[in-house]
Amino acid sequence: MTSCWVIYNGSLTSDKFADQAHLVAEAAERAGVTASIMKNYEVTMDLSSPMELPDFAVLLDKDILLGYFLKSRGVPVYNDPAIIDLCDNKAKQYIQLAACGLPMPRTIVAPKVYPNFSIRDSGYFERIIEELSFPMIIKEGHGSFGMKVYLIEDEKAFYDKVESLRGIDFVFQEFIESSRGRDIRVNIVGGRIVAAMYRHSETDFRANITNGGQASPIELTAAQSQMALSASRAVGAIFAGVDLLFDDLEQPIVCEVNAAAHIRNILNVTGINVADSMIAYILQDLR
Ligand SMILES: Nc1ncnc2c1ncn2[C@@H]1O[C@H](COP(=O)(O)OP(=O)(O)OP(=O)(O)O)[C@@H](O)[C@H]1O
Ligand SMILES: [Mg+2]
Repeated sequence: MTSCWVIYNGSLTSDKFADQAHLVAEAAERAGVTASIMKNYEVTMDLSSPMELPDFAVLLDKDILLGYFLKSRGVPVYNDPAIIDLCDNKAKQYIQLAACGLPMPRTIVAPKVYPNFSIRDSGYFERIIEELSFPMIIKEGHGSFGMKVYLIEDEKAFYDKVESLRGIDFVFQEFIESSRGRDIRVNIVGGRIVAAMYRHSETDFRANITNGGQASPIELTAAQSQMALSASRAVGAIFAGVDLLFDDLEQPIVCEVNAAAHIRNILNVTGINVADSMIAYILQDLR
């Protein structure tokens, strides 16, 4: 009997992480796999002791070290921790997306500034304001549910934000006004589109459902499908939640790729359980 671990982060208190793990574990059981839901800290990464291991692991979290640990013990991990690592840092991810020539908002990766120092007087920030003007987006490297994405409207907000982000990876980004409060989420498994939804918010520039956005099923255009698939391919993600924005001609541009995409909202909106596709892909891959 095939066995798997479905791992989520036990330090997060919101129910949605456990819920996500249950969706995947139930799909595994439906496919005849014995699934154990594990909080990341329930696996002791003791480098000097052997341990009982599953046939594969689904890593729903960004505990990349746990992914590397399991791989070092020969456990296939989905998504590969290196991919989660790449996607979990939006700055790293944009470097990769740009290298692959994908259309995306104009993006400038912020330089590393040590927390106890400032480059305020260097002239650097004046150049950024000149290049992108207001409103612009500032996005932290690590962030989910739109929580670390800021719409910066003026100089005061800009300088307050950059000073508060010393020591943190982030990017400056062009604000795509034509996409204010709306985007498309596309869930991809193994290079195939499984489900998609249109998200829009009347109250926020971010379309994330967690920020009050509404979602509905959407039939993707060929251009949207191509763009989503190209973005997931560019970062090498087996499981991907690709966010697309609309440019001023309504054409798709890449907002970001999530390698640990949540699947509850898309299930509620479309009736499609992405977890079944994830498990089917893994079982095929392991054969
Ligand atoms: N450059 C941009 N111009 C206009 N809107 C943007 C831009 N970047 C992001 N947004 C909006 O903000 C939302 C959140 O941004 P993004 O998807 O990059 O981060 P996130 O949602 O925090 O990450 P995750 O999807 O991992 O939770 C997007 O869904 C989109 O609606
Ligand atoms: Mg997003």
